[in-house]
Amino acid sequence: MSAPIIEKIPSAGTNTDTKKVFVKTYGCQMNVYDSQRMADALAKDGYVETSSMDDADMVLLNTCHIREKAAEKVYSEIGRIRMVREEKRANGGDLMIGVAGCVAQAEGKEIIKRAPAVDFVIGPTTYHRLGEVVAKAKTGKKVVETEYAVEDKFEHLPAPAKKVMMSRGVTSFLTVQEGCDKFCTFCVVPYTRGSEVSRPVSQIMDEAKRLVDAGVREITLLGQNVNAWHGAGGDDREWGLGELLYKLAEIDGLKRLRYVTSHPRDMDDALIEAHRDLSMLMPYLHLPVQSGSDKILKAMNRKHTGDDYRKLIDRIRSARPDIALSGDFIVGFPGETDEDFEDTMQIVRDVTHAAAYSFKYSTRPGTPGADMPNQVPEDVKSERLQRLQALLTQQQKDFMQSLVGKNMDVLIEKPGREAGQIVGRSPWLQPVICHESVGEVGDIVNVKISQVMVNSLVSDTIATKLGQ
Ligand code: 5AD
Ligand code: SF4
Repeated sequence: MSAPIIEKIPSAGTNTDTKKVFVKTYGCQMNVYDSQRMADALAKDGYVETSSMDDADMVLLNTCHIREKAAEKVYSEIGRIRMVREEKRANGGDLMIGVAGCVAQAEGKEIIKRAPAVDFVIGPTTYHRLGEVVAKAKTGKKVVETEYAVEDKFEHLPAPAKKVMMSRGVTSFLTVQEGCDKFCTFCVVPYTRGSEVSRPVSQIMDEAKRLVDAGVREITLLGQNVNAWHGAGGDDREWGLGELLYKLAEIDGLKRLRYVTSHPRDMDDALIEAHRDLSMLMPYLHLPVQSGSDKILKAMNRKHTGDDYRKLIDRIRSARPDIALSGDFIVGFPGETDEDFEDTMQIVRDVTHAAAYSFKYSTRPGTPGADMPNQVPEDVKSERLQRLQALLTQQQKDFMQSLVGKNMDVLIEKPGREAGQIVGRSPWLQPVICHESVGEVGDIVNVKISQVMVNSLVSDTIATKLGQ
């Protein structure tokens, strides 16, 4: 799927003039992390981040290709950005346009053909070359950099300045693994992100310590298939994610750990034990099952059955009884009958979720699912999705309601919208609104939940002040 490099790239010069880059991020948490890494790479060349296109010298679209019409959305966004550029040019300014992420990887030089306004295209494995790509694009040449890099991107990506890290808050993502070898038949990730690569323990520990040193209190380990992580431990052994979590838990000042996204097949004993032993490993697990029908799971190449999943959840819950689940579901995969869909509804009822994401199957060109017979009509998919979402929304409400009257630890993250409020995060990821007197950003405070709002919880430290 990768396109060749159009031009050879010269070394980047060092430019100390301050310029501004507006990075627009689509899709998953990995893209959020990558956008920060790209901003860090550009900082070396004098760029600072801005949150508005109006005062930007460069717009970088970090795109997502996971579902429907992703490329089309990018092309129409580029059209809008081109207008902004024309206006800037009319006023003596300019705007460089770059496209990164999974659409960049999948479309490659096609992007420059269809949208000649774009100055450069860069795929996710080569972000460490961003400075060179930009330098080349500045000479007026179009650059497409989507060859899979053989060198380790993470070795070459610069660490952000401490000041920048501190401005990013007390929670942080940390990519430990990229790519996927699972080849689920609906999914484009193995083609856009390539095969699985795990970062070594020493690299991960260094980055985690740097983050904690800059005030980070909660780290979420990221990977397309994070629990397949198997990194060099520096002791002639390969470690698994469970062992890595124990090691990270030793870092002084780090208070919470999470990881996302996992595959049921890679939930090994050591990882389940980590959930049993590490109180700082939050009791919330995103473990997508996708479907409850064995026939569909097989067609999806998930390599487990509905009952395998149920048994796995039982084991995880006996190790960590307060664990809550989140998941992903696809309805209308080719060949899905009413009965198959009922199996999905049943597994949702059996397992129960605190939160979940559900999608209509969308054909992804180049994946096996796209060529399967018995594609499900759109109206059937819509009807099934509505039913599934009604059930999942009810479960989410029930879960939140079950927290009322309970005490919980909350990590304070930021000031609230209203004066006198401060917002933290529950162990199960809901925002918790507290009175500002409970503590400072970065503190973990124990509060009692008095009320549920649509997507957040209100602690009793504030309920009286809301007049409720
Ligand atoms: N159609 C619909 N949903 C998809 N996902 C991945 N590929 C597709 C597709 N082709 C969903 C899966 C995955 C989540 C990130 O996106 O549920 O877990
Ligand atoms: Fe895609 Fe996840 Fe399946 Fe990998 S495991 S192919 S990322 S859905």
